[in-house]
Amino acid sequence: MSVHTPIKKITTHVLHAMKQRGEKISMLTAYDYSMARILDAAGVDVLLVGDSASNVMAGHATTLPITLDHMIYHASSVVRAVDRALVVVDLPFGSYQGNSKNALEATIRIMKESGGHAVKLEGGAEVKESISRILSAGVPVMGHLGLIPQSIYKFGTYTVRAKEDEEADKLKQDALMLEELGCFAIVLEKIPASLAAEVAKLVSIPVIGIGAGGQVDGQVLVTHDMLGITKDFQPRFLRRYLELFQEMENATRNYINDVKTGDFPNDKEQY
Ligand code: KIV
Repeated sequence: MSVHTPIKKITTHVLHAMKQRGEKISMLTAYDYSMARILDAAGVDVLLVGDSASNVMAGHATTLPITLDHMIYHASSVVRAVDRALVVVDLPFGSYQGNSKNALEATIRIMKESGGHAVKLEGGAEVKESISRILSAGVPVMGHLGLIPQSIYKFGTYTVRAKEDEEADKLKQDALMLEELGCFAIVLEKIPASLAAEVAKLVSIPVIGIGAGGQVDGQVLVTHDMLGITKDFQPRFLRRYLELFQEMENATRNYINDVKTGDFPNDKEQY
């Protein structure tokens, strides 16, 4: 039996219906055409062009340096690869916190220049005006609460958020606000599973977790972590489905060896 619905195109309405009937939503990050083709062919529901591209693709320590132009480049590569998945694009740090006009301008550039289907941004009440303005232009918005990596210098560490009542209460208020404003989904990152389960019951929009336990409406992982391409990142919430760093390193060693020994190319591998 298939574990995902054979739907031609995933829309925000499809995701909403999935939550209503209790079907879990699968989401992964993608930053380039070739990877996005594989993930879309496998049937992932949502592809997130995450600002984690700043870490994974560009090697920065945080997500802060990535620019709007970079995000548009990554997103347009992903959009060209996709037949089925909903493509959500992260608004980069600095493009929406200042004022709602900038937020809308950044969003319009993403939608026009990349062809993405929705945007994601981090935070709750602090970015309310930006969310409203983007939504009023007809662009679907995904919220992101809990550990919000663009605020890493405020938090100081990447440890679990909202363990204390005060932060948990604010998170619940923010989730309700995001729903009321009209966001189509919320990502909850690295918070206690019991709190995430509570939020998923509290709101009618899909809640997608990363390090937020299993009692939510879907899961997201950074693809390079899930495939074992990133080597030294081993948080408790991560399940690795391959050890690609090792496999690719071995393949590269074999190639180098074949070149050095003259084994490659052989008679059949030339004209
Ligand atoms: O940028 C990203 O990859 C993300 C996920 C961790 C949800 O925001």
